Amino acid sequence: MKTQYYAATSLDGFIATEEDSLDWLFPLGEIGSSSYPEFIANVGALAMGATTYQWMLRNADKVVAEVGSPWPYEQPAWIFSHRQLPLIAGADLRFCAGDVRAVYADMKAAANGKNIWVVGGGDLAGQFHDAGLLDELILQVGSVTLGKGKPLFPRRVLHPTLQLVAARPMGTSMIELRYEIAR
Ligand SMILES: NC(=O)c1ccc[n+]([C@@H]2O[C@H](COP(=O)([O-])OP(=O)(O)OC[C@H]3O[C@@H](n4cnc5c(N)ncnc54)[C@H](OP(=O)(O)O)[C@@H]3O)[C@@H](O)[C@H]2O)c1
Repeated sequence: MKTQYYAATSLDGFIATEEDSLDWLFPLGEIGSSSYPEFIANVGALAMGATTYQWMLRNADKVVAEVGSPWPYEQPAWIFSHRQLPLIAGADLRFCAGDVRAVYADMKAAANGKNIWVVGGGDLAGQFHDAGLLDELILQVGSVTLGKGKPLFPRRVLHPTLQLVAARPMGTSMIELRYEIAR
């Protein structure tokens, strides 16, 4: 069982524009040609921050068009927020706030031997890393730069370095990099 931060990033390290747009990402690759199908099959619980959840709320039409429902995940999801956010029909949601360690045991129990996916944003992934709970970064790096935006992983990780365990080209516009976090 691992805790994984799986995300797509621009070449210069942003996962969304400053306005929380992902429009730069969708032309870069087909989700079906990525590791996503096998990745999600092994996920038992999700964690996401409020802005990421609000993206799902704002883009419900797009999500319905793609997967037929406004919430694409079967697994329980922990939404980190200090606010009361609207619910999404059919989603198994648990709202929480504060130290990620306080909910980790519940997430692990719900995951029932499967992996925990930290969906994002970058700082939430950083909070799991700060707590010593993050095992892997799985990054689809797109061949575009955004100049500024929401950061992939706003932490300084120097020693030990992240350990590259796989690199898989996805056509000519993306590459997937898988790093283990050494402790
Ligand atoms: N490219 C990709 O693969 C990818 C992946 C994931 C997300 N995204 C996008 O990237 C952007 C990420 O936005 P973001 O960087 O602002 O990150 P975010 O993690 O989605 O949202 C940050 C917000 O989450 C809440 N939060 C975070 N940690 C918390 C904690 N411990 N306790 C309580 N609340 C907590 C806070 O909201 P409040 O205090 O205001 O409630 C905080 O302002 C979004 O646009 C998302 O759609 C892209």
